Amino acid sequence: MRIDIITVQPGLLESPFSHSILKRAQAKGLLEIHVHNLRDFSTFKHQQVDDYQFGGGAGMVMMMEPVVRAIEHLQAQVSYDEIIYLTPDGETLNQPMANQLSLKGNLLLLCGHYKGIDERIREHFITREISIGDFVLSGGELAAAVLVDAIGRLIPGVLNDETSALFDSFQDNLLAPPVYTRPEEYRGWKVPDVLLSGDHRKIEEWRHEQSLERTRQRRPDLLGNPKK
Ligand code: ADE
Repeated sequence: MRIDIITVQPGLLESPFSHSILKRAQAKGLLEIHVHNLRDFSTFKHQQVDDYQFGGGAGMVMMMEPVVRAIEHLQAQVSYDEIIYLTPDGETLNQPMANQLSLKGNLLLLCGHYKGIDERIREHFITREISIGDFVLSGGELAAAVLVDAIGRLIPGVLNDETSALFDSFQDNLLAPPVYTRPEEYRGWKVPDVLLSGDHRKIEEWRHEQSLERTRQRRPDLLGNPKK
């Protein structure tokens, strides 16, 4: 999969993809990430990319022209399955969406800034709008990094058995059960006996019960019950 990201803050995206699992995904040739500076596509003085909004009001709007030039420049080289705009008023990212996007070919991400992008870009170019939660960030870059991380680790072949996503929280609409490692006892705090029993059927049952209980307590909405 190839992911291109268009941003006015390329510096913010310099390092999040050079570590751990995403680094390995790129080294294995399963993922390619390219960050593009929107200002490079501006034909205006001082590489301007934003302007005052029609109708008045505080805050600048990202202009059509540089964004369209950037998108069309990339589209001439790469065919994209989705052109995604990161915005707080998009659909909220969740695990099923990440699973679905991880199976796509190439993605183009557009990071919003200021008051956002001219609505006509959304109407004519954007195929999907994604928010990472009900809060407002200063720009779409960190949201793009979150999205790329959530998708990248799910690309087939990226995770091995040890890091498998099968048992992640949300994979079956349940939160993950608690986990423990050595020592068996620390300051009198013990690891649950069942995990030391060697009885794999019992261990699986215990984990499932813990997952259910944790989900009931913390995220009843995942079980179809409204959150209190
Ligand atoms: N840009 C600003 N806030 C955002 C959010 N919560 N999700 C995605 N993009 C954003």
